[in-house]
Formats: sequence, C-alpha cells, structure tokens
Amino acid sequence: MKKLAAGNWKMNGTAAALEEARALTAAHPAPACEMLLCPPATLIARMAEAARGTALMVGGQDCHAKPSGAHTGDLSAAMLRDAGASHVILGHSERRTDHAETDAQVRAKAEAAVAEGLVAIVCIGETEAERDAGQTLAVIGRQLDGSIPAGATAANLVIAYEPVWAIGTGRTPTLAEIGEVHSFLRDRLRGLIGDAADGVRLLYGGSVKPSNAAEIFAIPHVDGALVGGASLKAADFGGIVAALSAA
Ligand code: PGA
Repeated sequence: MKKLAAGNWKMNGTAAALEEARALTAAHPAPACEMLLCPPATLIARMAEAARGTALMVGGQDCHAKPSGAHTGDLSAAMLRDAGASHVILGHSERRTDHAETDAQVRAKAEAAVAEGLVAIVCIGETEAERDAGQTLAVIGRQLDGSIPAGATAANLVIAYEPVWAIGTGRTPTLAEIGEVHSFLRDRLRGLIGDAADGVRLLYGGSVKPSNAAEIFAIPHVDGALVGGASLKAADFGGIVAALSAA
C-alpha cells in the first residue's frame, strides 16, 4: 500500500499561500508516498490547477451529505470533485465540536463523497477526558463503527486517528499509545469490512512535525499522517513527506 501524507490547512490561506504548494511540488516531484493538501474551499480549484501534472493531490475539508439543494453555505461532494478535489476530510474533531457533527452525519457525508468518486478521510479520536477515563478504545471503536461509509474499500476510505488533545497542542501520545490504537483500529476494521481492511490507510494526526515524523511512521499500522499546522509551510510538510517516503 502507498502511504499518504495529507495536509489540512483548516481556515488558513489566501491566494498567496499557493506558493507553498508550488514549492512543495518543486521540492518533491516524485515522492514514494502519496501527497495531498486540503486547502480552504476557496483555493481548491486554483491549487488543483497549480498541481496539474505534479504528484500533489488536492482535497476538501468537509462536504454536505446531499448532492444539491437549499443548503446555504454548504458544498456538495460533486462540487469538490468539479473543483479538482480527489479527497475530502470528514468528521474532523473541529467539525464535530464546532458544528456538532455526529457519527451518523459523518457517515452520510462519507457515503455522498464515495458516491461521487472521492476518497473519504474519516477522522476519529478521543478527548483528553476520555483518555484519562480509560475510554480511548471504546470511544474510537464507536466512532469507527458509526462513521465509515457503507461500501467502504481500501480505495475509497482512509481513517485518521487524531486524539483531540494532540491537535495543535504540540503534545502527542506515546509511540506505544499510537501503536495500540492503530492495531486496534486495523482489527476493528477487519470486523467491519473484512480483508479490505488491510489496505485501508490508517493515518495518525495531532502535532506531527518533521522532528517526530520518522518515529511515528515506524509504528506498525501507521500508514501516513494528517497534518495541520506543519502542512502550511512547504519546508515543514516536505520534511514529513520525506520521512514518510523513507519509512
Ligand atoms: P495539527 O493538526 O497537526 O496542527 O496538530 C492536525 C489536524 O487537525 O488534522
């Protein structure tokens, strides 16, 4: 399986930031891993244009579950695809918190994305209180069961394990803790979709940076990363791409 370095720009970046995508593709013309940036929706089309003919793929950060209609401010999976996206992040903890997205809503969005030919990157992860209460595996197991789309395959689904307390904080779980969750996820996914689970990329996300990427990528069942802050600069994200390519 090819590993995946995915960057989530969140609500950051205007046209000037496309220079970072250009610098990234110039520095990494043929990485051994897949390379994806998910900019704000306003930049998807222009980034896709800039990425044409390069190894960089472009994705969205959310989509609506419906194909069209009276949903002011929302975007459909077809619109993302039309703008040049190949992937979409769904159920990120910031959406689960800021927009009260439930597992069922994330699943509906993922099914819409897959129906449109997009790869759904479904995010799950425990809060600090849940980890302290020893609930980590119960919480992420429930989120996994409830959020993945019907008809999930290794080609249309990526799972991102992102402990909420590690996002944007500079804190990460221990390598053993990440390993425990990822092997749990692989097993749980096998129970849900059978052998296809072995080909589904399981990303770790939460304060991944060039300096900790190599040790995280050496953990079994870590097939890449979902990167926030360190994806905004080509040099930082490029360091993570290089570490993943070498893993
Ligand atoms: P971070 O964000 O890398 O800035 O911690 C990760 C994410 O939210 O996807």
